[in-house]
Amino acid sequence: MTQEEARTRIQQLSDELHHHNYQYYVLANPEISDYQFDMLMEELMVIEKQFPDLLVPDSPSQRVGGQVTREFKAVSHVYPMLSLGNTYSEDELNDFDARVHKLLGESVEYICELKFDGVSISLNYREGFLYQAVTRGDGIQGDDVTVNVRTIRSIPLKLKGDDFPLSFEVRGEIIMPRKGFAEFNEERVEIGEAPFANPRNATAGSLKMQDSAEVAKRPLDNYVYYLLGEHLPFDSHVKSLIAMKSWGFKVSDHYRLCSSMQDVIRFINEIGKIRHTLPYDIDGVVIKVNSIAQQQALGFTAKSPRWAIAYKYKAEEAKTVLLSIDYQVGRTGAVTPVANLKPVQLAGTVVKRASLHNADIIEKLDVRIGDLVIVEKGGEIIPKITSVDLSKRDLFAEPVIFIKNCPECGTLLTRNEGEAAWYCPNEDYCPPQIKGKLEHFISRKAMNIDSLGEGKVEILFYSGLVKTISDLYALTYNDLFGLEKVIEGKDTKKEKKLSFKQKTAENILNGISSSKTIPFSRVLFALGIRYVGETVAKKLASHFHTMEALSTASFEELLQVEEIGEKIAASLVDYFGNPKHIEIIQRLKDVGIQFEQEEAAILSDKLSGKVFVVSGVFSRFSRDQVKKMIEEHGGKNSSSVSKNTDFVLAGDKMGPEKLKKAEQLGIQILSEDEFVQMLL
Ligand code: IVH
Repeated sequence: MTQEEARTRIQQLSDELHHHNYQYYVLANPEISDYQFDMLMEELMVIEKQFPDLLVPDSPSQRVGGQVTREFKAVSHVYPMLSLGNTYSEDELNDFDARVHKLLGESVEYICELKFDGVSISLNYREGFLYQAVTRGDGIQGDDVTVNVRTIRSIPLKLKGDDFPLSFEVRGEIIMPRKGFAEFNEERVEIGEAPFANPRNATAGSLKMQDSAEVAKRPLDNYVYYLLGEHLPFDSHVKSLIAMKSWGFKVSDHYRLCSSMQDVIRFINEIGKIRHTLPYDIDGVVIKVNSIAQQQALGFTAKSPRWAIAYKYKAEEAKTVLLSIDYQVGRTGAVTPVANLKPVQLAGTVVKRASLHNADIIEKLDVRIGDLVIVEKGGEIIPKITSVDLSKRDLFAEPVIFIKNCPECGTLLTRNEGEAAWYCPNEDYCPPQIKGKLEHFISRKAMNIDSLGEGKVEILFYSGLVKTISDLYALTYNDLFGLEKVIEGKDTKKEKKLSFKQKTAENILNGISSSKTIPFSRVLFALGIRYVGETVAKKLASHFHTMEALSTASFEELLQVEEIGEKIAASLVDYFGNPKHIEIIQRLKDVGIQFEQEEAAILSDKLSGKVFVVSGVFSRFSRDQVKKMIEEHGGKNSSSVSKNTDFVLAGDKMGPEKLKKAEQLGIQILSEDEFVQMLL
C-alpha cells in the first residue's frame, strides 16, 4: 500500500466509522452489526499503525483510547464556567421572573431544559474538530481531559454539516445512564471492587482515570445545552440547540419554550412525573431566557447568569420506623442486611424495605431497631436509609449486633481482610447459595435457559432432583412430568397444587439441551466463581482457550492474564482446587457443554501455522486484540516460549525471562510495527 492509497482508505474508513458511530450512539439507530463495525475499525487501526504520519486525533480509532495521562494539564477557561442560582419553590421562580421583567422592561420568553445530574464539561471545537475538553475545576481553570473525552461515543470528534463557526465552545453534561451504571457496578462488585454510590460519582471517577482505554469501557454519554463563542449567528437559545443537534451533538428533546411562569411550572410538574422513567438521573429543570439579546442585557453576577435559574426537585425522602433487620444470603454466600420498615409512601410507591448494604454501613449510621429513619429514593431501585432522627430515639435502644451465624444453615460467618461483606463459607450445602448458583447458571447472560425461571428452579431444588448445576443435564421427562409444588394459601387449609404439564416438561428439556451450544466464555461466567464476572470470563476464555488449560493454570500463570489481579487469581485457584467442582466440570463436559473457546473468524491465512508468544504492552492494541488478530489471520498463540515458537511479539516491558529464552533458542523477535507489516 502506498502513502496515497493509505490516505484515501483512511479517509473512507473514517467517514464510514464516524457515520456509524453517530447512527448508533446519538440516534440509537445502528445500520451495521457490531462485528462489521469492529472489522472496519481494525482495518483502520492496522493502516494507521503502518502510516503513523496519517494518524489524526479525530480518527475514530481514538475512541478506544490507549493513551495514559499521568497528570492532567490545568487549562484556563475562555469563558468562566459559572454555576446557576438554585431554587426549590414556585415563589422563588416568580421572584426570578419579576426580576427579569423589571430589568428588561419588556416581555420575555423562557426555555426550559432538563438539569442533568452528571459532570459538566467544556468542549472546544476548531474548524469542525474537537480539540480540547476541559472539566469545570474551580470555574476559572479546569483539567484537560481530552484523551478521555474522545472515547465517549456521543461526543462528535468531527462535526457534521458545514455551517458551524470556525471556533466555538459547547457546554454539556457527561452522564452515566442508570442501566449502564447498574451493570457497571455489578461488575465491580463481582470483581471485588467497591461500587460507586451513584451515576454522578461513577462519571466523575471515570473522567479522572489515567488510562483512556479504561474510560472507553465505561458506559458514558453526553448531552449538550449551551453554545458559546464570538459573533455566533443565533439570536435565540433554542436556535443554538437546533444547530448543535444538526452538527452531530446529542441534544435532549425534552425542552420547551414557555411564554409565562405558569407554562414553566407546568413543564416542571410534567417532568417531575416522568423523571424516574428517564434512562438517566436529572435533579431539576433549568429555566433560561431564550433571546440572546436579552441574555446579554441581563448579564452575570459574580457567580451565575441573571438570565437563568435552576429549579431543583426535592430529594424524595420519607421518615418511618425501622421494625427489624433481615439477613439475606446470596449465591456467593455474601450476607446482606435488609431493613424492614413500617410501610411509608415515597415517590409514588409504598416502601417496606430498604437496603443496609453491610455491617460497616449499619455501624456508620448507628441505626437501631425502633429508630425513626430517613429513607431516600436515589438512582437505585431499592431505597436506602440515609440517616437517623436521633431526637426520637428510645432511651433503651441497643446498637445492632451483626449476626455471627448464617441465618439459613447456621454456619459461622467469615470475613476477608479488607472486605466489607460477611460470608457464609458453607457454599455446597447452604440452601440459598445452591439455589442462587442455579439461578445464576440459567440466567440470560449465562446459560440462558429461559424455560426454567427462578420459580421452576426452586421446585427442582426442593424436590431434591437438582442439587448442583450438573444435575440439570441428567433430568428426564419422567422426572419432570407431574412434578408438583404445593403453594400454601394465606389460610393454610387451602392448598393449591401446581404440577408440570407435558408442554412445560418438554420446554424445560429443550431449553437445557440448547444451552449446550452456549460459548465457553459464558459457561465460565455461568459457573458463578467468585469475582469472575462477564468481562473477566471473556478475558480468561480468550487467554486459556480451554477449560483444561484454565483449571490447571497456576496462580502465577493466572496473573499473566490482562486485568487479572491477585484476588481473582486466588479465587480461581481456590475454585479449581476443590474436587467437588472438578467433578461438576467433568459431568458438564461429559454431556457436551462447551469447554473450548470458539474459533475466531478467519480474515486471511497470512500467519497460517505460525506459533506466536505475545508479551508486554503495546502502543496501539491491547494484548487481547493482538492475540485475536493473530488467530484471525490463521496463527496460533502460546503462553510460553519453546522450540515450537515461530515468533515472539515483544511489546514494552516484556518479561526478561521470555526474552532471554527466545534469544537462546534463536527465535525471531518482532516489534509491533513488524507484526502489523506481516498483516498488510
Ligand atoms: S446551563 C452559565 N443547562 O448545572 C450556566 N446547566 O448548577 C450554564 N447543568 O454547571 C449552565 N443541566 O453542570 C445548564 N440544561 C442545563 C444543565 C446544566 C445540568 C449543570 C451544569 C452546571 C450546573 C449549574
